[in-house]
Amino acid sequence: MSTKEEIEALAPWFHNIHLPDGRETAPNHFLGDFPTFKWEEIKSSIPEDLNGWKVLDIGCNAGFYSLELAKRGAEVNAIDLDEHYLKQAKWTAGKFGLDDRITFRQMQVYDLAHTEEKYDLVWFMGVFYHLRYPLLALDILSQKTTKMMVFQTLSLPGKEEMEIPQDVEFHKRDIMKTAAWPKMAFIEDRLAGDPTNWWAPNHQGIISMLRSCGFKIVAMPGEETYIAEKDKSLTTSLESWNYSEYLSAVGKDWQKEISKKTKK
Ligand SMILES: C[S@@+](CC[C@H](N)C(=O)[O-])C[C@H]1O[C@@H](n2cnc3c(N)ncnc32)[C@H](O)[C@@H]1O
Repeated sequence: MSTKEEIEALAPWFHNIHLPDGRETAPNHFLGDFPTFKWEEIKSSIPEDLNGWKVLDIGCNAGFYSLELAKRGAEVNAIDLDEHYLKQAKWTAGKFGLDDRITFRQMQVYDLAHTEEKYDLVWFMGVFYHLRYPLLALDILSQKTTKMMVFQTLSLPGKEEMEIPQDVEFHKRDIMKTAAWPKMAFIEDRLAGDPTNWWAPNHQGIISMLRSCGFKIVAMPGEETYIAEKDKSLTTSLESWNYSEYLSAVGKDWQKEISKKTKK
């Protein structure tokens, strides 16, 4: 089969990947040259030399970002729940001769709670709003990340920010109706025809959720795109009263785990 025929056999494509022979996997993409234009925005916010870095690419799709990060020297673990996209990703990595640097696995983001490995860089783009349990995913990923996370989500229009009060009086809850208050809109049916879009957080909501999971935002290189770093000075709820809820939510025996921890 020619490369052109192979591309057609693997269609439909969401990533337009420029192959080494000059062919493109989705040259007529509805977003333009996607995700090349997103990568152009982000690439200078990521270290150019990723040798020795372990990277986790969640919802890797056809592997565009995994390839770019592997080209910089990273060892990449890429996961996606969709077998179709993983097939594209494996094929594309082979075309670039990068299949020894990238491991592809069919996994749900939540499955990561049952793995041991940690990552210097977690790439979490285009997945958060597709999840029914987005904050659980962020709590899991917070424990997997040692240095940085690149985070992108569909969001609500606007860039309002605010100082978050330490407490809100019961009768003063109107403050939560202000534009900047951290929030997520729930999509009961569809957005842009897609029934897998569940949530659209606002800008302050993204900042606050990331902070609550132990990340501080250090840059916003593009629309809806955040570079976050692990910040040890932030206490997440997992280190305090909420750990048992987390353990239970990821299907662990929380009573056993908590008693092991307190015995230490
Ligand atoms: C909108 S695409 C984003 C692809 C890529 N990360 C990007 O930013 O271009 C969402 C991808 O996440 C995958 N996905 C959705 N829910 C997932 C989940 N719960 N666990 C793992 N992957 C998921 C989809 O199969 C799809 O490939």
